[in-house]
Amino acid sequence: MSNAKLWGGRFSESTSEAVEAFSESVSFDARLWRQDIAGSKAHARMLGRVGVLSGADVTAICEGLDTIASDIAAGDFVWDTALEDVHMNIESALTERIGEAGKRLHTGRSRNDQIATDVRLYVRDAIDALVTDIDRLSTALVDLAEAEADTIMPGFTHLQVAQPVSFGHHMLAWREQILRDRARLMDARKRANICPLGSAALAGTVYPIDRESVAADLGFDGITANSLDAVSDRDFAIEFVHAAGLLMVHLSRWSEELILWSTPMFGFVQLPDRFCTGSSIMPQKKNPDVPELVRGKTARVTGDLMSLLMLMKGQPLAYNRDNQEDKEPLFDAHDTVAACVGLYADLIPALAVNRETCRRAAVEGYSTATDLADYLVRKGMAFRDAHHVVGGVVAQALDEGRELAAMPLDALQAFSAEIEDDVFDVLRVEGSVAARDHAGGTAPAQVRAAVARARAAN
Ligand code: ARG
Repeated sequence: MSNAKLWGGRFSESTSEAVEAFSESVSFDARLWRQDIAGSKAHARMLGRVGVLSGADVTAICEGLDTIASDIAAGDFVWDTALEDVHMNIESALTERIGEAGKRLHTGRSRNDQIATDVRLYVRDAIDALVTDIDRLSTALVDLAEAEADTIMPGFTHLQVAQPVSFGHHMLAWREQILRDRARLMDARKRANICPLGSAALAGTVYPIDRESVAADLGFDGITANSLDAVSDRDFAIEFVHAAGLLMVHLSRWSEELILWSTPMFGFVQLPDRFCTGSSIMPQKKNPDVPELVRGKTARVTGDLMSLLMLMKGQPLAYNRDNQEDKEPLFDAHDTVAACVGLYADLIPALAVNRETCRRAAVEGYSTATDLADYLVRKGMAFRDAHHVVGGVVAQALDEGRELAAMPLDALQAFSAEIEDDVFDVLRVEGSVAARDHAGGTAPAQVRAAVARARAAN
C-alpha cells in the first residue's frame, strides 16, 4: 500500500519489505524523540507567530505533541518501522490524534532540516551532561592531589624510574588532560548550537518564516547561514565524537597506569573491590575490569570517529540518505564516553594509595641520580662530566645493593672531592621533590598551590 507512506503519492507500488527493513532508522533514532518534539513545537509556534498556522492549530499541535511525549516517556508509544523514522512516527501519531492540524505541522519544513536540528540539539545536550561529569571527575582529582601532595612516587620515562614526583602532581597531570577535553567540548558546542530550521529540504522555503525566533525558542545561539550547508553539515557531530575520542584516549592512558599500579608488582594503589571482579578459576585474582574496559572501549569511540569521517567524505551537497548513518556512531560514542567518565568520577575518590610502596619504588629506582648530578654542577662541575660521575656512583650502588641515600660519605667522596655532608639532602626523595619548586614543578608546595588555583577557578 504505497499511499500509506507520508510520501507515497507518486508511488505505484509499496516499498519491498527488504528495503523497508534496510532503510528504516526508527529502531535507533527513536531516542531523538525529545529533541524532535521540541523542534516541532518550536516550528509550529513560529508558524503561528507569522500567521501561517492559526492559533487553534498551534495549540492542537503542541498539545497533541505533549500527549505523544508523555506516552513515549511512559513506554506506551508503539514505534512502527514501516513509518521509517522518528519524525514520521511522531507526525503520523499526531495526525491520528488531532486530525487536520497534524498535517499542517510540516509546512515550510523538511525532514532534512528537522533531523539536522534534532541531532544538533542532541549533541548540545550530550555535551552539557558530559561536561558536568568531567567537572565531577576533575574535582575528584583535585581532592586526591591535595590528599597525596606529600606522597612520593617514581616518575617514569620509557616506563623506567626517572625522577621522584608527588603523587598529587601525577593526579593534576591527569586533570590537565581532561581540562583540555572540556575546553574542546565547549568549543564544539558553539558550532553545534546553531539552528538549521528553515533550510527545509535544501534551498529554504517560500513561507514568511522567522528563523531567529525558532532558534531563540530552542535555546540556539543563532541560525545557520546557508541552507545547502545546513542540511548536509555533520561537522558538529564529528567534532563532538573527536573530543570524546581524545577524552577516551586520556582515560585509556590512565587505565593503563592504574592497571599497572594495582598489580602486586607495583602495588602503588588498590582499586575498590566494587570496581573489580574475581577469576572463576584463580582464587587470588582481583581483576581491574573497569580500567581494562575503559581502555578497550576507547577502540569503539575512536572507531565511531572514523565511521563519521568516512561517512561524510564522498557526499555531494546537500542532504543524502548516507547521513542517516551518523546516528549509531554518535550514540555509541556518547553512551560509551558518558559511562566511562561517570565511572572514573566514582572510582577516583575511592582509590587507596599505598604511600610507603610508592616511596620505596622511587628510592629503589635511583630516582635522585639527576639530583646528585645537579649537586655536582652547583659545586662547579660541567653537567656532562657530572652525569658521567653519577653514572659511576649508580653502578657501584647497584653492585652493593644500596640506595643512593645509603651510600657512605667517603664512598661518594671517592667519586668527587667536592661532595660534602649536605649531599644527603639531595639524595633523599623528599629533598629531590621539594627542590622542584617552581610553577608547573612537582614540589608539594606547588601541588598545593595548583590545588588552590583549581578550587578558586570553580
Ligand atoms: N532518517 C533520516 C536521517 O536520519 C531523516 C531525514 C530523511 N530525509 C529524507 N529526505 N529521506 O537522516
